[in-house]
Amino acid sequence: MSDTSSFDLVVIGSGPGGYVGAIKAAQLGLKVAVVEKRQTYGGTCLNVGCIPSKALLHASEMFAEAGHSFADLGIKVSPELDLATMLGHKDKTVKANVDGVAFLFRKNKIEGVAGTGRIVKAGEVEVTGEDGARRTLATKAICIATGSAVAGIPGLDVAFDGETIVSSDHAIALPKVPASMVVVGGGVIGLELGSVWSRLGARVTVVEYLDKILGPMDGEVSAQFQKLLVKQGFTFKLGAKVTAIAKTGSGAAVTFEPAKGGEPETLEAEVVLVATGRRPYTDGLGLDEAGVARDKAGRIEIDAHYQTSVPGIYAIGDVVKGPMLAHKAEDEGIALAEILAGQAGHVNYGVIPSVVYTSPEIASVGKTEEELKADGVEYKVGKFPFMANGRARAMLHTDGFVKVLTDARTDKVLGGHVVGFGAGDMIAEIAVLMEFGGSAEDLARTCHAHPTMSEAVREAAFAAFAKPIHV
Ligand code: NAI
Repeated sequence: MSDTSSFDLVVIGSGPGGYVGAIKAAQLGLKVAVVEKRQTYGGTCLNVGCIPSKALLHASEMFAEAGHSFADLGIKVSPELDLATMLGHKDKTVKANVDGVAFLFRKNKIEGVAGTGRIVKAGEVEVTGEDGARRTLATKAICIATGSAVAGIPGLDVAFDGETIVSSDHAIALPKVPASMVVVGGGVIGLELGSVWSRLGARVTVVEYLDKILGPMDGEVSAQFQKLLVKQGFTFKLGAKVTAIAKTGSGAAVTFEPAKGGEPETLEAEVVLVATGRRPYTDGLGLDEAGVARDKAGRIEIDAHYQTSVPGIYAIGDVVKGPMLAHKAEDEGIALAEILAGQAGHVNYGVIPSVVYTSPEIASVGKTEEELKADGVEYKVGKFPFMANGRARAMLHTDGFVKVLTDARTDKVLGGHVVGFGAGDMIAEIAVLMEFGGSAEDLARTCHAHPTMSEAVREAAFAAFAKPIHV
């Protein structure tokens, strides 16, 4: 079957970058189609990434709290795990979210085209459905928003079987709690999903190549967080390069050697989670034939307006440079839609928050101390511990601190880092302040409700330009 329809914009991929960009473009009056090969919209984030992992992180955190801290609050319970129901909660959460995207497409008159998209040339996308039927979409602009896929370990052929040697896709759906788990990679996915299974009873060991966990995060944040995870039962092997993963009779064996050279070691576990990064996903798009250039890391090259090397073909999100974060992709989708509609779309890459949804949460925006040192910037540090925050004490959430980094000459806030309960929400006020070029004094002189965790943000700001009140 051949059918030709024409659009202003065809987006390939319905993850947070693609679907948000499509909605914005439709709102601005463009005729939009979204090509998606999964059964449901929402991409990795909604189907197998951010959303299901957060459902499990929340549920497992409640389980751990019921077992460990409810008694201190005067609540006597003996929690019993019902993993099937917990996984069911995750599945229901995913369904509500992906159905929500389908609803928004209908509401905004966006045409969803089921199948795999291939770019024939600028202005033409061919979609092949599951039954092999082809349809050609003619369009003024094409947006590639195909996201990323599990990268595996460079130089190692990891034999994922989905049960013993797993990626994040499988680690959100293990049918039983493993007695032991080795996590390869101490990045965001390893620590989030490692936390889920650790709280549910698995003995978790993280093997990480670098000398620190959460590589790009502020060094002090990483170090403090690692201590908190050790208290929660995690074991860490840092500076360790994984060189082999092999199935055994009862699980899998992970072999690693000191990154700086030395004797190899082997650890066995019931399940091995490989979380060593993701790669841009552009398979089957026909980029080479269409002449779309990519860099050495496989990312699609774009200009300041998200246009690729081929006029009329654009790319956003995990397939282009920058952090692989859903909200970064969303912002790029909105900016591109605005540009295509003749407006001034723009993303401020200096103010993209980053959150690790562990317990406590880790959140960061702007520069780290290491980056400021490397840039030769004279800076001040304002810090405040949650131990000295009344609300944190009342909730038994005293772990962590807020750290605000400012320009020593102007007091302008250059970075904010929060380790603590609700850090992911608290970071938003530092991001807004930075977006407006605000100073620590601006932040400290903004009245904050009492008693809230956010008072610690204010106190850290006070510490940067004057003195905190409560320490
Ligand atoms: P990552 O890049 O955050 O961490 C991977 C870690 O694996 C690195 O620390 C790296 O040094 C280590 N590694 C690589 N090869 C190794 C080897 N042979 N032996 C030992 N360690 C090795 O990647 P991750 O955690 O897989 O996440 C992928 C992407 O997804 C990231 O960009 C992340 O930001 C994003 N993501 C974000 C989330 C959030 O914002 N909360 C949640 C989940 C993923």
